[in-house]
Amino acid sequence: MSKPVVLIAEELSPATVAALGPDFEIRHCNGADRDELLPAIADVDAILVRSATKVDAEALAAASHLKVVARAGVGLDNVDVKAATQNGVMVVNAPTSNIVSAAELAVALMLAAARHISPAHAALRNGEWKRSKYTGIELYEKTVGIVGLGRIGVLVAQRLSAFGMNVIAYDPYVQAGRAAQMGVRMVTLDELLAEADFLSVHLPKTPETVGLIGAEELAKAKPSLVLVNAARGGIVDEAALYDALKTGQIAAAGLDVFAKEPCTDSPLFELENVVATPHLGASTDEAQEKAGIAVARSVRLALNGELVPDA
Ligand code: MLT
Repeated sequence: MSKPVVLIAEELSPATVAALGPDFEIRHCNGADRDELLPAIADVDAILVRSATKVDAEALAAASHLKVVARAGVGLDNVDVKAATQNGVMVVNAPTSNIVSAAELAVALMLAAARHISPAHAALRNGEWKRSKYTGIELYEKTVGIVGLGRIGVLVAQRLSAFGMNVIAYDPYVQAGRAAQMGVRMVTLDELLAEADFLSVHLPKTPETVGLIGAEELAKAKPSLVLVNAARGGIVDEAALYDALKTGQIAAAGLDVFAKEPCTDSPLFELENVVATPHLGASTDEAQEKAGIAVARSVRLALNGELVPDA
């Protein structure tokens, strides 16, 4: 009897294949390439992806045997969950696998932007020893505004509290009492924009959050604001951010995510007050191993007709 087929459409931790076990035929493809993905998905029982593969209505329509879409990570914005459900395809993810890694990268970008690490490093490699040009600012006793106090936002708040920061947050779904237990004061978005010295975005990408921070919002911020987005591109409007950084309306930005990815050519990359990374939030050995094992387990259970527990 032939084994159920699992298609791994992006580079995943080797632990993923080990956790799937011997009962499946494993195939690989480059899911970011539609010409490879559409024929490859046609006869598989499950597909495993990160964020570069768009499992949209077209891909689902091409997949006549598909039973499970597994997202080795948190965000489901590259999977058309509604179309999958309509086609009877289960969607699973690994909602806690990379939250520590994402939180740590947000803090890293904040420190890098505050201390000009990226331009100072580039200058030094260029033979320039410029100490006063790259004078930075401390996080200590500054106010950080967390936009989105979910799993990752909470981890960022805890880490920045340890730096001696005053933590405020905007999240319409979080009660002030619960946040206060963590030492976080809940505020409106306008209050956050007016008070924050640092701002870090930790929201999923949904129609409601796209463009949440645009020109109007940035105009309310302090000129010294350092903004970090390691959540999803497009939540902060890139054109408005560029203008705000270029004109000194805000001071600096640390960006890991972009409205359109991959993104190798952006006017933002020309600014010295921007430090940018190519969507590396979840790219640690630990997060990839946890994500791979978690989704492999869910796929195994689903294809064996067993109950898939909530992660
Ligand atoms: C996530 O949503 O979990 C990350 O963006 C995942 C990734 O980079 O694969």
